Amino acid sequence: STNRTFTMIKPDAVADGHTGPIIQQIEKAGYKIVAITKLKMSPEQAGQFYAVHSERPFYQSLCDYMSKSEIIPMILEKENAVADFRTFIGSTNPAEAAEGTIRKQFAKSLEANAIHGSDSDENAAIEGAFFFPGV
Ligand code: CMP
Repeated sequence: STNRTFTMIKPDAVADGHTGPIIQQIEKAGYKIVAITKLKMSPEQAGQFYAVHSERPFYQSLCDYMSKSEIIPMILEKENAVADFRTFIGSTNPAEAAEGTIRKQFAKSLEANAIHGSDSDENAAIEGAFFFPGV
C-alpha cells in the first residue's frame, strides 16, 4: 500500500550541485515529495539523528560529516516506498551499488554516499518527524 519514506541528500551531493538530477530521478521513479527543506545540521543534531549508531566506530566522523554543510531532507510517498527506495538508491557502500542507482552515480565514499533512505516504516516515521514534526 502507499506509504512514506524519509530521505536526505547528503552534504557532498548538495555542495557538488547534484540536487537537481537526484530530485528529478526521484520524481521520475514515482515518488511524491510530501515535505522538503534545506538546512545545515549542528553536530549535536547530527548526533541525535544518528543516535542509533552511537556505539559504531564511524559515529563521530559521520556526525562531523553530516553537519559540515547543507543537506536536503525530504519525506516521500509511493507504494512500498521504504523497500523500493532502498533498491533505487543502491547499497550503502557505493563500491557495491548497482548500475544506475543514485549512489552508483553520485556517491564518493562509504561515508559521503550521496543520500539516505530509511530502513523501516517505523524509522521512516521517526526520521521524518525529526525534521518535519506534525507532517
Ligand atoms: P546511511 O545508511 O544513510 O546512515 C548511516 C551512515 O553511516 C551510512 O549511510 C554511511 O554514510 C555512514 N557509514 C560510514 N561508515 C559506515 C560503515 N562502515 N557501515 C555503515 N555505514 C557507514
